[in-house]
Amino acid sequence: MKAYKYLLLAICFTIGTASAQKTEKAVQAQSFSPGQIWPDNNGIHINAHGGGLLYAKSTYYWFGEHKIAGGAGNRAMVGVHCYSSKDLYNWKDEGIALKVSADSTNDIAKGCILERPKVVYNKKSKKYVMWFHLELRGQGYKVARAGLATADNVTGPYTFIKSYRPNAGFMPFYPEGTSETEKVNCDHPATKSDGFFCRDLPGGQMARDMNVFVDDDGKAYHIFSAEENFTLDIAELNDEFTEHTGKFARVYVGHQTEAPAIFKHNGIYYMIGSGTTGWAPNPARWFSAKSIMGPWTYHGNPCVGKGSEITFGGQSTYVLPVAGKKDAFIFMADKWTPKDAIDGRYLWLPITFKGDDIEINWLDTWGLDVFKKIG
Ligand code: DGJ
Repeated sequence: MKAYKYLLLAICFTIGTASAQKTEKAVQAQSFSPGQIWPDNNGIHINAHGGGLLYAKSTYYWFGEHKIAGGAGNRAMVGVHCYSSKDLYNWKDEGIALKVSADSTNDIAKGCILERPKVVYNKKSKKYVMWFHLELRGQGYKVARAGLATADNVTGPYTFIKSYRPNAGFMPFYPEGTSETEKVNCDHPATKSDGFFCRDLPGGQMARDMNVFVDDDGKAYHIFSAEENFTLDIAELNDEFTEHTGKFARVYVGHQTEAPAIFKHNGIYYMIGSGTTGWAPNPARWFSAKSIMGPWTYHGNPCVGKGSEITFGGQSTYVLPVAGKKDAFIFMADKWTPKDAIDGRYLWLPITFKGDDIEINWLDTWGLDVFKKIG
């Protein structure tokens, strides 16, 4: 009889706890809180760092680096994590989209560096195409390759295809009006940056921090820090988005830029990036152009107000056009915590347009109602 009583008590307690947890999980977020813990549908802080978003079939998919606790978490021990959301506030864990390999000879062996994954959909092949920055295991940041994986379903599983340095043997594309002195001459490289370009010409350009952008005409571009980060390359991809075509522009040559994020508004291309200070924050920088292949104009820091000199503690990773809203773009940044990588936070802030200029202001909390509806 006594045992029966305890069993009954235990059942009541379990049901009670379960329903309390359920209530906790059922609370739906209705705003963004930059820099705070961001629980997923299981109540666990979202683990998708250096990420990017894809909008498909009325759903947003967020792909990013899955980090583990401690300093080891800066290396890829698990893979690329995927989450889905209908409203951008509440995210469902969709699991690991691309898993690192247990085979230590594989390019994406567990312990490699796999950063800033971005996924786009290719209408021709009907495949989801993921590009990322890859460093082979145990080789620091010297390999600087672009990695490719594809999948039939948006959430994966993604299959690793290859990794390489882009555009081997190709000279850059120059917009009309570029003077001869501005063009790289590998017989006499004029600057440090040109020197790295020429050094890497036979084997392909270094490809570190990166993004992928699909233009209105369906063409896709891979944007990456090249030449020991001294230049950004904007490189055209083939029709399947799986190869570099050899056409690319060099942007902001000679200045070290990381974390590029591109978007297009009213026919103008915008790019936001950062300086290069490891995991520590620095001032963001923005550029604009009338053509994706340039010329690109440098405009300085888009952030304003307190904390703007360090991008509010973050580093750009993506700019999201919000579906169904006018002039609505979200600046997404990572607030890195390299000593405990898994604790990295996300800073999402609205971009404000001032004519053709942009501004990013800090907000403790905000919602999509800051944007106007289309129509
Ligand atoms: C800054 C880059 O933006 C990150 O993705 C990462 O590569 C760190 N540097 C490593 O220090």
